[in-house]
Amino acid sequence: MEVHQRIDGFRASLDERRAAGVAVGFVPTMGYLHDGHGSLIGRAAADCGAVAVSIFVNPLQFAANEDLASYPRDLESDLALCERMGATHVLVPSVDEMYPQPVLTTVSVAEVSMRMEGAVRPTHFAGVATVVAKLFSIVGPCRAFFGEKDFQQLAVVRRMASDLSMPVEVVGCATVREPDGLAMSSRNVYLDATERQVALVLHRALDAGVAAVVAGAADAGSVRAVMDEVFATEPSAMVDYAEVVDAATLAPLEALIPGTEIRLIVAAKVGAPRLLDNAGVVVPAR
Ligand code: PAF
Repeated sequence: MEVHQRIDGFRASLDERRAAGVAVGFVPTMGYLHDGHGSLIGRAAADCGAVAVSIFVNPLQFAANEDLASYPRDLESDLALCERMGATHVLVPSVDEMYPQPVLTTVSVAEVSMRMEGAVRPTHFAGVATVVAKLFSIVGPCRAFFGEKDFQQLAVVRRMASDLSMPVEVVGCATVREPDGLAMSSRNVYLDATERQVALVLHRALDAGVAAVVAGAADAGSVRAVMDEVFATEPSAMVDYAEVVDAATLAPLEALIPGTEIRLIVAAKVGAPRLLDNAGVVVPAR
């Protein structure tokens, strides 16, 4: 496995592999890797002959009051996981390597970015889209693997790649969970034992919401009410949103039309970290 600090060497090595006819898979990360990232890297290794991983805590996607300075890091363990899961190329650039001059060019994706996370963190998705666009340009034509845990991020990246005709196939991969259902996230490390139990309410709310849809709920309002009821059992979880949206456009829904693929998306602050989770379901025939 090659580890690069410099963009040029990383790019040249991937270009060489592509010129030899090898397909390139790409997994962008901010490090502090867990089994969720491991599954993305493993999936990329199963699909592609070369697997590039980036490890970069991107300052552009953090607001001034957020956890950029304290974001967890463990490069040694990250590189071991990359190697174990089949990465062939890892880019670990410094902030100066990625942003040698003030960034004047940014990418923002309207509509898909606006609600939910975009409403709570207004500058977040422009930061994500800008760094992902830059990473796509560094890696070159590839299949890029993103977790569904950050479902809105996946939708933003998909739309950006499509709108800008990027030579990248964006592949969404199922969320990896702890045995008790908690979605894996680098920020779970901030939870103490009590908060760790409280955090399970996100998964419980989603399960109850999905069950309501499957049982024939006619409108999104009643599904939201079911999720709100579950959240009310854990008042220390500060809910930012519990939404019912169209899975493709992320447009909020009211009527639930049979056959529609929908996504229930929740976010709540539990202790220090904000946790996100979501679940998909198709509205059944009635
Ligand atoms: O999901 C993440 O870890 C980040 O938002 C990403 C996609 C690596 C961009 O910094």
